[in-house]
Amino acid sequence: MENTVEIDWQKMDEIIDKYQSNREALLMIMQDISDIYNYVPPEVIPVLIQKLNVPESLIYGVATFYKTISLEPRGKYIVSVCTGTACHVRGADKIMDALEERLAIKEGQTTDDLLFTLEGVRCIGCCASGPVLNVNQETHGGLDRTSAVKTVDSYS
Ligand code: FES
Repeated sequence: MENTVEIDWQKMDEIIDKYQSNREALLMIMQDISDIYNYVPPEVIPVLIQKLNVPESLIYGVATFYKTISLEPRGKYIVSVCTGTACHVRGADKIMDALEERLAIKEGQTTDDLLFTLEGVRCIGCCASGPVLNVNQETHGGLDRTSAVKTVDSYS
């Protein structure tokens, strides 16, 4: 299955109009679009180029520089497994393995139904509860393989 989303073009126009088609607002516009889709869909890029009169390279530059903005499809739920030292020694690798198996994707990938993106992240500051993972903004700790899979399943 191909990774695509249905673009709400009216919403896209509203976002661009909100910033009065100001090219200086490119970052904010891309962030607003990411807030809806978790990434900036490729279909939107030509519209940004035309309406904001910005070069394509600038759009790629923003996406490269800002970690919160991606041009690759990302899931509705971003599953971030902490791979920091404390979580690592408590079995973060096993958590990652179990989730790769469950979601049938590798770290850094997104499921075809665009529900989940799986990624490894550095310490998220809850070391005492390790191993931990975040699903979007929610943190889950004290995990083992089974509870990690159950946690992610609860979002589907
Ligand atoms: S190392 Fe995982 S939360 Fe700190």
